[in-house]
Amino acid sequence: MIRGIAILVGLFFATMSLWAFGTGALTVMQQGYLVEPTAEIEFHKEPKHLALPSDGPFGKFDLQQVQRGYQVYKEVCSACHALKHVALRDLAKLGYSEAEVKGEAAKWVVPGVDPTTGEATTRPGTPTDYFPSPYVNDIAAASANGGKIPPDLSLITKARHHGPAYVYSLLTGYAEVPAKLKQEFPDFAVPQGGSYNPYFASLSIGMPAPLHTDGQVTYADGTQATVDQMAKDVSAFLVWAAEPTLQKRNQTGWPVLGFLLFATILAWFAKKQVWAAVKPKRAKS
Ligand code: HEC
Repeated sequence: MIRGIAILVGLFFATMSLWAFGTGALTVMQQGYLVEPTAEIEFHKEPKHLALPSDGPFGKFDLQQVQRGYQVYKEVCSACHALKHVALRDLAKLGYSEAEVKGEAAKWVVPGVDPTTGEATTRPGTPTDYFPSPYVNDIAAASANGGKIPPDLSLITKARHHGPAYVYSLLTGYAEVPAKLKQEFPDFAVPQGGSYNPYFASLSIGMPAPLHTDGQVTYADGTQATVDQMAKDVSAFLVWAAEPTLQKRNQTGWPVLGFLLFATILAWFAKKQVWAAVKPKRAKS
């Protein structure tokens, strides 16, 4: 009886999957595709490959590179993007001395209160402040950027698939609309104020190419500031911003795993010892 029901249930599932497969196959045969192709499906690109020293379980930051990335963020990106989860004092972890951190913090303008009138004003940053937003609120941010709000970049490398590679690809991916796209999708148009970028899901991004000219920043360490280099460095900086303690985590993780392995072996021997006396004796044959 139960066996009969089991066979019926099995048959039901087998028929349903065959039926689903059959209708899918039929659709593909009739129209050549299952999901109607759109420009976004056909022309969206996966991020380019990017290797950073912080990758993998043994990853370490290249502090020189992260410092260069900080410079790019400071001189270019911070005009539109905030880093509200990163404190200015965290710059000490990039290898800056206490005095340098103070000097660096003072270059940022943060919201403050006038001590005599109590009115909202601005003041130079101190190490305890966080990286400020360039806009007073989202409405101001949107109105300055054609209706698109530049997102906070503190966690962007964690919030997107292939985080740093995505940011790097996005920054170096600006291009003309390919002729093939225009031919296949004549209705596709980049909206006013947008730019074509195949690494952005909708293919048109509301951020004008921020890194466009070699030498846009001048690196103190003499590294050539090509667009590619600046994009790599700022991506490395954003990995750091999202997790300044990454290196410590990697370094702590291995000894912890070693300790856990040791504790497991110890527990196993202890178990053998404790239960040795009460083990059932093998029956004599
Ligand atoms: C002129 C202002 C401006 C500057 C300068 C700028 N951005 Fe943007 N950025 C924007 C705007 C606006 C958006 C939102 C675009 C959209 O949603 O279409 C954006 C979006 C982004 C995104 C998010 C894409 C996503 O997946 O949502 C990243 C990453 C980014 N910017 C990185 C940078 C970096 C790195 C720099 C510096 C090299 C920079 N931006 C400089 C305005 C700017």
